[in-house]
Amino acid sequence: MIVLGIETSCDETAVAIAERGERNLIRAEEVKSQIPLHARFGGVVPEIASRNHCEVIDDLAETALARAGLGPGQVDLLALTQGPGLLGSLLVGLSFAKGVALRHRLPLVAVDHIMAHVEAAFIDHPTIAFPLLALVVSGGHTTLLHLPERFAPQVVAKTRDDAAGEILDKAAKFLGLGYPGGPILERLAAPGDPRRFPFAVPKMSDGSNDFSFSGTKSALLRLAQQHGITATSPELPTLIGSFLEAVADYLVQKTMAAADSSQVRSIVVAGGVSRNRILRERFQRATKQRGLDLFFPAPDHCTDNASMVAWLGYEKYRAFPKLNYADLYLNSYSRALFRGPGRHR
Ligand code: KG4
Ligand code: ZN
Repeated sequence: MIVLGIETSCDETAVAIAERGERNLIRAEEVKSQIPLHARFGGVVPEIASRNHCEVIDDLAETALARAGLGPGQVDLLALTQGPGLLGSLLVGLSFAKGVALRHRLPLVAVDHIMAHVEAAFIDHPTIAFPLLALVVSGGHTTLLHLPERFAPQVVAKTRDDAAGEILDKAAKFLGLGYPGGPILERLAAPGDPRRFPFAVPKMSDGSNDFSFSGTKSALLRLAQQHGITATSPELPTLIGSFLEAVADYLVQKTMAAADSSQVRSIVVAGGVSRNRILRERFQRATKQRGLDLFFPAPDHCTDNASMVAWLGYEKYRAFPKLNYADLYLNSYSRALFRGPGRHR
């Protein structure tokens, strides 16, 4: 079965062609990043994002099909990110997908973006065992999910304030280092020094299990000011190293606490921030100690892409054959559906 995946939830326009069934592979994937358009603002500007999706999506789909050696008539299934994300951006993908579905009479499977990030790990590791814990850390989301099975995610913790990637982006912006912050900070980081640059582990005053990153962000700004550290200071790499290690340790600590209290077999860490070398090392160490299997998506499938959407779309179509995939009243949603326990597709 040939699946065409579409992703437009934030600042990447992406189209992928997956072949699923007897053979399981990505036949083509195109990602048009808008980073250069947003860099001078230090973050994503929603209106610029939707306009650019509109401008490039047709060509991107044509290119992906051509690279896969296929015509639109050979596609069997469409898969689309329904939400969460920027509403204007999501609606561009949705309108495009509805047009293609109508013209070629194709079933259209809508998937959740956070679940698609988790699914990205299955592209290269199809046999990941359930139950699993999945940590999705990106520019827009920080969500820890418990999945007894693929389509039954339960929220263990989510962020109360900024997302993990968001504080990296804000930290880099504050220090005048550029956008997006995550890869820039990773490049600059030297081993941290917790005695010179201490970061407290965030604790929720109401005892909630949720994540909070705003205290760590404020601590970074305070330390930079106290020590007079700017983009050109020799101490900058150590300060950044301490900051990234603190963020990584916090994410690992909370994920491992959840793993210790739930009988999971695997851990998946996904989303843009899961490309981070320090985070990967810390997770590798912690899971090895516990004998848990750890999986990351390939680096290009950590950040936003449409392969993960195509992959999950196919799984959903197979798992729920009776859902209505001809529903052209389908709408996008901007906010995460996962706000509490329960089943979500
Ligand atoms: O998954 P993604 O492309 O978009 C969202 O769904 O939000 O994630 C983008 C985020 C940005 O905050 C970016 O700074 C971060 O991922 N990121 C990284 C790295 N590469 C991207 N963070 C840490 N280390 C990296 N190497
Ligand atoms: Zn994402």
